[in-house]
Amino acid sequence: MKLWAGRFTKEENALVNDFNASISFDCRMYKQDIQGSIAHATMLGDTGIIEKSESEKIVAGLKEILADIESGKLPFDWQAEDIHMFIEAELTRRLGETGKRLHTARSRNDQVAVDIRLYLKEEISQIMALARAFIAVLLNKAQEHAGTILPGYTHLQRAQPITFGHHLLAYVFMLLRDIDRLQDCLKRMNVMPLGSGALAGTTYPIDRFQTAGLLGFDRPCENSLDGVSDRDFCIELAGDLSILMMHLSRFSEEIVLWCSWEFKFIELDDAFATGSSIMPQKKNPDVAELIRGKTGRVYGDLTTLLSMMKNLPLAYNKDAQEDKQAIFDAVDTVKLCLKTVTPMVDTMRVYEENMSRAAAKGFINATDCADFLTKKGLPFRDAYKITGQIVAYCIEQNKTLETLSLDEYKGFSQAFDQDIFKAVDLNTCVQGRLSYGGPSRQSVEKQIELAKKALQQGE
Ligand code: ARG
Repeated sequence: MKLWAGRFTKEENALVNDFNASISFDCRMYKQDIQGSIAHATMLGDTGIIEKSESEKIVAGLKEILADIESGKLPFDWQAEDIHMFIEAELTRRLGETGKRLHTARSRNDQVAVDIRLYLKEEISQIMALARAFIAVLLNKAQEHAGTILPGYTHLQRAQPITFGHHLLAYVFMLLRDIDRLQDCLKRMNVMPLGSGALAGTTYPIDRFQTAGLLGFDRPCENSLDGVSDRDFCIELAGDLSILMMHLSRFSEEIVLWCSWEFKFIELDDAFATGSSIMPQKKNPDVAELIRGKTGRVYGDLTTLLSMMKNLPLAYNKDAQEDKQAIFDAVDTVKLCLKTVTPMVDTMRVYEENMSRAAAKGFINATDCADFLTKKGLPFRDAYKITGQIVAYCIEQNKTLETLSLDEYKGFSQAFDQDIFKAVDLNTCVQGRLSYGGPSRQSVEKQIELAKKALQQGE
């Protein structure tokens, strides 16, 4: 029989019961629901809203329920509408009258709002820890490959020489921003809706500052209508996670390219690759592809949340129940991807020779050739034009800037001398890029140092 049977003349249609129920997915918040109830019951006792002895019994009962759920002794009742009803019903089953006092001065509307925040706060910490672990692996690899030259690309065309370390560090800084965004999201999430009641607070003399303190929130929310109906924190988190996934997806895309025979810059460890059911020669980067694919899923979760909220009148509406599957999916997906990408990158093999071979072929030192002439006094535009002619000549003659003779160079400009060979040497090209944030070893070391500092500060 339903809680609200008194008001109704009929039993609920079985279909409606299933349609309405959320226990199948909100059961994962059992710990947070109990935590919230313990704080609420403690406050009810301290303020004298219920007897202190009853409050203590309720707290003890809730702790036992928690232990029983965790040990597997108490299975969820899939017939219960949601986790809140399940735990309250179980408490009442165990404590009788006393259990029925827990819901004084509270509604499921403020209860669920506080549960999700408590749940997501923990998930965010886990995601940040996973992102940090990934960054640590990237930093190690960056250090190892601070001198490994490969072409940097624009438009996926070989552009200028960089190092693999420099390339990986770009992702480190993206991920550091992701962590920063999550920390920012936590700040706004850390405001407590409990005590907003169904929508209009309560006539009981509750102490919302006490419950906020007990649950580790910065403060209670300022407006009860906003308290029960705000899901900005879910949307914000899904937005932050979408950006994070976009970063992982870009990285995965590069992994897929680098694994191809056309690039062969890296090879994934056998444990992180898959074969084909028909083509015996295949070794596929499925993990990277799946991360790329799952990015769309997380974007979908963000869209679900935004669409769900866009025309909800104040205050609580049942539509809001749809928030959980979307945000849980986003959180689960991101955790899974971070957990998998980290060892995949840690164990991948880097083919330095293939990187340098690719670097040697694409005239990626052409800018340096033009810069050489500029440093000899030519205006950059003229130097650029001459270098363009040299590149065209090389392509025609099947030569490179390194294999051209000095006479050939001089045929294009008398400003060339023997030093040009040093100037177009790829090592010189990279190590000369000493500008702040550039790919020279010195700059890569600096970036690693800054990233490590940022990681420590965030802890
Ligand atoms: N299961 C509900 C949810 O997730 C809890 C709140 C129900 N409130 C209500 N007035 N029906 O949103």
